[in-house]
Amino acid sequence: MKHRIYTGFVANPRSASARGGIHDGANTTRAQMEYFPDGAIVVTETGRIDFAGTRNDALSSYPAAEVREYPNALIIPGLVDTHVHLPQYEAAAIGTGELLDWLNTYIFPLEARFADDSYAREQSRRFFADALSLGTTTMSVYCSSQRNATERAFEAAFEAGIRVCMGKTMMDFGAPENILFSAHQNIEDSLAIAKAWHGSDDGRLQYTLTPRFAGSCSRELLRLTGDAARANSLRIQTHLSENPSELRYIAELFPEFSSYTDVYAAHGILTGQTVMAHSIYLSAQERSLLREHDCALSHCPCSNRFLQSGVMALRKSMREGFKIGLGSDVAGGFSLSMLNEAKEAAESSKTWNILNRGEETPPVNAEEALWLATLGGAEALGLEQNIGNFVRGKEADFVVLSLKDILPNHSSFSAPEQVISRAVYGAGRGAVLTTFVRGKQVFTRS
Ligand code: GUN
Ligand code: ZN
Repeated sequence: MKHRIYTGFVANPRSASARGGIHDGANTTRAQMEYFPDGAIVVTETGRIDFAGTRNDALSSYPAAEVREYPNALIIPGLVDTHVHLPQYEAAAIGTGELLDWLNTYIFPLEARFADDSYAREQSRRFFADALSLGTTTMSVYCSSQRNATERAFEAAFEAGIRVCMGKTMMDFGAPENILFSAHQNIEDSLAIAKAWHGSDDGRLQYTLTPRFAGSCSRELLRLTGDAARANSLRIQTHLSENPSELRYIAELFPEFSSYTDVYAAHGILTGQTVMAHSIYLSAQERSLLREHDCALSHCPCSNRFLQSGVMALRKSMREGFKIGLGSDVAGGFSLSMLNEAKEAAESSKTWNILNRGEETPPVNAEEALWLATLGGAEALGLEQNIGNFVRGKEADFVVLSLKDILPNHSSFSAPEQVISRAVYGAGRGAVLTTFVRGKQVFTRS
């Protein structure tokens, strides 16, 4: 069988226990990465990882392989965005208000435009092309609320070669009429799209039931979502505990429940395949409820600041053993780059420390943040058996970053963790040389 060898500085997140590489109990273990500065990965003809290690070992063990040399480049697993809104991409960096006003002013009118098929197709193509150019190989996507636009998004993802878990955003109240559908229509349309796309291309494209949040889903829609998830073994993604005014709004809408998380629990939304975005203001009772159900968290630090929502206690959630990935939350977050999000995760962990002296110590560093943006994201989406690091048999999703394009490029700080830190903090647009999904080249810098 024909193998390909890709040489460069290989950074490989370690899978430790099921709960990921980061354990920070009595013994503080920092990021769990292994490094091969003069390294290589070997990919099979069918797009799977066969080997990760030193360049010399790869060359001697696979003498017949085709070799692609990437000198002065960093090879990392494909970046995983666990929470992002496709129809909001055009509004990245726009607006100044907080969540609820921002949704009404900028986002709902933009999402309404996706009723137009050709606009939906064009926007979907641009969105996935840009994500791949930034090294993102897997995305958990909220489409707009229209069935046709969600179908255009699946077609675009199929063509782009990206890996997605994706769904039609479901809403039956709390937004303009033109983007609302009845509870039954929402579920019927979602399941029809899931039937057509879930698991297609050998599981590269998957369907996720996507109730927007309790502020735009009736009790009936939430309950039908929980039922449909269980009956069809589908993932669920939604927003939880993001912004103080949102919390007040949810409490007014659902006075009979003791917490925001309780609202979801009572309607069957908490499952081992549920991804909760934000989750900033959780009580101890809510945190244990989420852990009991094995829900994952999508931490969205860039958005949390852009919309002035708050600062999440990342270290605390990691210590408690949550599955955690990072989410760009475009356009709450202003960038599709998951390296940017990793930087924001590290910086926001320091902000928590500043505000709550000592509680978050030690702050999450760049290596850990990169771990969260790769293997952590894969775990959060339940894809850790397939992707997230370079383990034999996993699918070869990876990114080659030019170290020459990471500023300052003359830096003499070249210990492995310093290279990672410089990549997380200094890789701007254009640092990605090439992106692969399942061993197939899906982006090349021109
Ligand atoms: N809560 C409900 N809808 C949204 C959204 O589109 N973005 C963010 N950040 N939070 C939300
Ligand atoms: Zn969001």
